Amino acid sequence: MKKLLFAVSLLCGLKMFAQKTNGLALTPPMGWNSWNTFQTKIDEKMVMEVADMFVSSGMRDAGYTYIVLDDGWMAMDRDENGNLVPDPQKFPHGIKAVADYVHSRGLKFGIYNCAGTKTCAGYPGTRGYEYNDARLYASWGVDYLKFDWCNSDGINAKEAYTTMSKALTATKRPIVFSLCEWGGNKPWEWAANVGHLWRTTGDIYNCFEGIHNQGTWNANCVMKIVDLQKDLRQYSGPGHWNDPDMLEVGNGMTEAEDRTHFSIWCMMAATLMAGNDIRSMSAATKDILTNKEMIGVDQDALGIQGYSADVKDSVEIWIKPLQNNELAVCFLNRSGTAKNFIYNWKENTVNDTLSKTSIDFSKTKYNLRDLWQKKASGTTDKPFKATIQPHDVVVLKLSR
Ligand code: GLA
Repeated sequence: MKKLLFAVSLLCGLKMFAQKTNGLALTPPMGWNSWNTFQTKIDEKMVMEVADMFVSSGMRDAGYTYIVLDDGWMAMDRDENGNLVPDPQKFPHGIKAVADYVHSRGLKFGIYNCAGTKTCAGYPGTRGYEYNDARLYASWGVDYLKFDWCNSDGINAKEAYTTMSKALTATKRPIVFSLCEWGGNKPWEWAANVGHLWRTTGDIYNCFEGIHNQGTWNANCVMKIVDLQKDLRQYSGPGHWNDPDMLEVGNGMTEAEDRTHFSIWCMMAATLMAGNDIRSMSAATKDILTNKEMIGVDQDALGIQGYSADVKDSVEIWIKPLQNNELAVCFLNRSGTAKNFIYNWKENTVNDTLSKTSIDFSKTKYNLRDLWQKKASGTTDKPFKATIQPHDVVVLKLSR
């Protein structure tokens, strides 16, 4: 028996080694990233103000931790030692000063670069400087690296990201490694050993359905991204997450669409990287981003990516098994008209082979809690009835 236990614990240990968790990102990383709102128009004052607002608005208390500077923080050339140089106009006190400030607010600091020769916005890329750049980031106190894929012609994705992963490990500083390869080389098949999360698609845009023409390329509206995650859920879990891109909540969609976007990201156990201007967000945006019960669904310790189990009259039924035999159920009205929705639990079972969850509601009764109304909402003994507005959701947490 002892031998068996030893063998089992050894195997568990090996499995842990096989993934680059190093104790990080055991739940999907949460934070803020500058790109969706500011693109390259970033500077130290803005980042420090965002860090302040993270504290005063309740974002930090809701679990958002990483303040990530995306593309545009560098000067156009490396220095004579090959080191990256922060743009002296945008960051006159350097990046370490910004990282120190972010840390002083009880937050963590992230930065961006690219596996190619140049970043997507044309700044110096990391190709050939992996160990150099990793050392520099560690010396600045960087806690998170987003690593992009522009200007990477002819290089092997797995090798390029593995080199950077090793360079980060060599610094001995715990740094979350976020691969931003857009899904072309199927990182979900190989990146659990390399980083903590990987983008699964091209860039998001603040539109609800379809694509947004950016001239030379197409960005994805929120629901388009959701559809592209469908076959990937088995690859995601604690320490190694599918990343459907940063949030567009507060960036121009309707309140219902923002609520839906946020809810589905939580149902998918996605990284929650706010992408709006935190300094000027409306009360409605803040309420969405800081809904702690909804965030609890995202951050559930089991880390199971939820799925669309069924569609009834344009209403998608999303399921996410949670710890302690709980379950999140999201009814998503994807249509442009309000739906009078009735869901008879007893006529519907949950059968998720991936998480080995199987529920027969005629045998087991659950209590319902509406996570947006923030109140109890009956039990599974009676059919659930609600009018769901266009592009809106109802999210219920089911507990025994
Ligand atoms: C790519 C990434 C974006 C952003 C920009 C920066 O498009 O996918 O998320 O980082 O580059 O240039």
